[in-house]
Amino acid sequence: MQEFKPVKEGKVREIYDIGESLVIVATDRISCFDVILNNKVEKKGAVLTQMSKFWFDMTKDILPNHMISVDVNDMPEFFRSGQFQGKSMLCKKLEMLPVECIVRGYITGSGWASYKENGTVCGIRLPEGLKESDKLAEPIYTPSTKAEIGDHDENISFEQSVAYLEERYPGKGAEYAEKMRDYTVALYKKCAEYALTRGIIIADTKFEFGLDEEGNIVLGDEMLTPDSSRFWPAAGYEPGHGQPSFDKQFARDWLRANPGNDWTLPQDILEKTIAKYLQGYELLTGKPLE
Ligand SMILES: Nc1ncnc2c1ncn2[C@@H]1O[C@H](COP(=O)(O)OP(=O)(O)O)[C@@H](O)[C@H]1O
Ligand SMILES: [Mg+2]
Repeated sequence: MQEFKPVKEGKVREIYDIGESLVIVATDRISCFDVILNNKVEKKGAVLTQMSKFWFDMTKDILPNHMISVDVNDMPEFFRSGQFQGKSMLCKKLEMLPVECIVRGYITGSGWASYKENGTVCGIRLPEGLKESDKLAEPIYTPSTKAEIGDHDENISFEQSVAYLEERYPGKGAEYAEKMRDYTVALYKKCAEYALTRGIIIADTKFEFGLDEEGNIVLGDEMLTPDSSRFWPAAGYEPGHGQPSFDKQFARDWLRANPGNDWTLPQDILEKTIAKYLQGYELLTGKPLE
C-alpha cells in the first residue's frame, strides 16, 4: 500500500497530495485565541468536512467547486482506515488565486475596531451610528492578500486586489478580481439567508478560489465552516456588544475564566463543545451527523 505524508499541516487541517488531486483532512484539533488546545474535539473534523460538503452541494449552481468526494472508498487505500473516515475530502487540485475573499454581513472583530476609529472598514465608508454586531444594509467584500507563513494577512481594497492579480496574471486582473468579488457576495447571501432560517447567523466568512486546467475559477478550500466563519446563535442576537460564538463559546469562556490554564479544557467543557459542533451541523443540515 502506498503511504502518504501531508504536504502541509495547518493548525487544524492536513493536506495530502495524491497526484492529480488532493485529500484535505480536517482533524479534531481546535484553536482558541489562535492557540491549538491540547484536547481533541471528537467528531469536529467530520462535522467540518461534512458541513463544507453540504454548502458545496448547495451552491454548485453559482460556480463549480473543487469537491470530488467525501467517500474514503474513492481515495487511495491509505485513506480507507477509520482514522480518515468522514473527515476527508478528495478535491480537484487548483492553482490557488492569492487573495482571501472575505465578506462581512455584520460589523464585528477587526471591522468594528476600524469603524470605531475612522468610520470605515477596509477602506469602505459605512453609515454613521452603527453599533457593534449590527447587520450591514448590504454585505461588504473586504479582500486580503494571502500572507506567507508567520505574516499576518494584509487587508487590501478591491482596486488593490485588481492590481495584485494583474501583476501575477497579466490581462486578467480585473476579470478575476470582479468574479471573485461577485461570487463571494453571491455565495454569502444565499447561504447566510438559508442559515438564518435554521437559527444561525453567519456574521462573516472567507472563501478561497483557484483556477482549474481550463482556467475556470473554481471554489476551493473549506466552505462556511465555523473555522472559516463567525457563526452566532440567532436566538439572543442583540447589537451593542460582542456576540457569543456558536461553537467555541464554552471553550473561550472557560479559558478566559481560568487564566493560568495550560490550554487544556476539562472534560465537561470538552463534551459541551463537542455537542455544540454536532448541534450546529444538525441545525444547518437538518440531519444528525452520520
Ligand atoms: N483545491 C485546492 N488546490 C490547491 N490548494 C488548495 C485547494 N484547496 C485549498 N488549498 C490550499 O490548501 C491550504 C490549506 O491550508 P490551511 O490548513 O487552510 O492553512 P493556511 O490557510 O494557513 O494556508 C491553503 O493554502 C489553501 O489555499
Ligand atoms: Mg486556510
